[in-house]
Amino acid sequence: MNDVLNVIQKRKSVRNYSADPVSSDDLKAIVNAAIWAPNAMNKQAWHFTCVTDPALIGKMSEACRKGLEGSGVPFLQERAKSPDFHAFFHAPAVIVVSIAEDKFTAFDAGSASATLCLAAKALGYGTCITASTEFMLAGDPALREELEFPENYKFICAITLGREIDGPDDHVRERKEDVISYK
Ligand SMILES: Cc1cc2nc3c(=O)[nH]c(=O)nc-3n(C[C@H](O)[C@H](O)[C@H](O)COP(=O)(O)O)c2cc1C
Repeated sequence: MNDVLNVIQKRKSVRNYSADPVSSDDLKAIVNAAIWAPNAMNKQAWHFTCVTDPALIGKMSEACRKGLEGSGVPFLQERAKSPDFHAFFHAPAVIVVSIAEDKFTAFDAGSASATLCLAAKALGYGTCITASTEFMLAGDPALREELEFPENYKFICAITLGREIDGPDDHVRERKEDVISYK
């Protein structure tokens, strides 16, 4: 199979990571791929905060836990209570994506995030886009500044990044077959 199509098909959301760090060369290559993603009117109104400091990742996870506790969403509140809770699945790197509030920027962020995940897979890394981590800023509003969001940008998602290891994952990975028509 074509290399690119193979990477697209093999990519999956990874929720169990080894502690092996992501090399800075690989991290740069992966995030640089994201900024080449198609985006509306080429505005590139996105920002990628790459976090590899374990103390900061721990602080962000704790902020998520606190934010989820106050979310009012029962299943998220339940998740936050788990003694094993780690918002980023103990990944050694997390890329926080923030965007300007504009008509197509959420689409652009999705485009860039998917590109990032595919680039990571091409280099042998696992990723998981997490939007439930949006509660992080409710848990610790000061993180907005610490994560260097540009002014008026808002959180869109956090992407975990690292080497996959075996572990539990109760998510179902299946695709609907009836969503494509050919005429
Ligand atoms: C916008 C978006 C938000 C997501 N948020 C979460 C999340 O908060 N937690 C999580 O474990 N996975 C999250 N995912 C991953 C999806 O669950 C996953 O992509 C989907 O189940 C398909 O599985 P696959 O990525 O392995 O193909 C998110 C994915 C997207 C695109």
